[in-house]
Amino acid sequence: MVDPVAIGFGAGLVLVFVALHAARGTGWEATADISEEVIERRASTVEETEFPEPGSRAIGGGSAPAGAVATGEEGELEEGAAAEESSSGPGDIPEDEIEHFEVEFTKEGDTIEVANNETVLEAGEDEGWDMPYACREGQCVSCAGQITSGGNAEDYVEHDNQQMLDDAELDEGYTLTCVAYPRADFTIETGEAP
Ligand code: FES
Repeated sequence: MVDPVAIGFGAGLVLVFVALHAARGTGWEATADISEEVIERRASTVEETEFPEPGSRAIGGGSAPAGAVATGEEGELEEGAAAEESSSGPGDIPEDEIEHFEVEFTKEGDTIEVANNETVLEAGEDEGWDMPYACREGQCVSCAGQITSGGNAEDYVEHDNQQMLDDAELDEGYTLTCVAYPRADFTIETGEAP
C-alpha cells in the first residue's frame, strides 16, 4: 500500500526543485545575455572616434554630456579670468576714467599732456621725438629715464610689470618709460639709466 502523504511530500519536493532550478538558471542566464547584448548594441550605434575608451562611452552614455557641461563651465571660467587679466593692466582704463597729466620732458624742451592709459614712451613718440627703447616690455633698461620731481618714481607713474628696477632705483626716480603710465604731473630726463 502506498502512503498518499509520502507521495504528496515527494511530489512537493520535486516541484520545489524544478521551480528553484528554473528560477535560478533563468535569472542568471538572462542577466548575462542581456548585458552582453546591450553593450554590443550600444557600441555598434556609436561612431568610431579617437576617444580612448569607446567601450566605456558606449555603456555610460550619460558621462559625455556631463563632461561637456563641465568643459563648458571651465571654458567660461577661463574666458572670465582672461578678460579680467586683460583688463587689469594699468593702461586698461575705461573711457570715462581717462585723465591727462602734464609731463615735462627736460631734454626735449617741452611739456605735454599724457593720458593715464598711454605710456610715457608712446607719448614722446607721438610728439615725433626720438625716444630710446628696445624690448618695450619692461625687460631691459633701454628706455629708462629719471623723474626729477622728487621722491619715488612710482609716486608719479604706474609700471606695467617692470622687471629691471629695484626699490632703491625707483626711489631715485628711475622709470622704464615703455611700461610707465602717468598718475601725476612730473618732470623727466629721458635716456637716463641707473
Ligand atoms: S624698452 Fe626695454 S624696458 Fe623699456
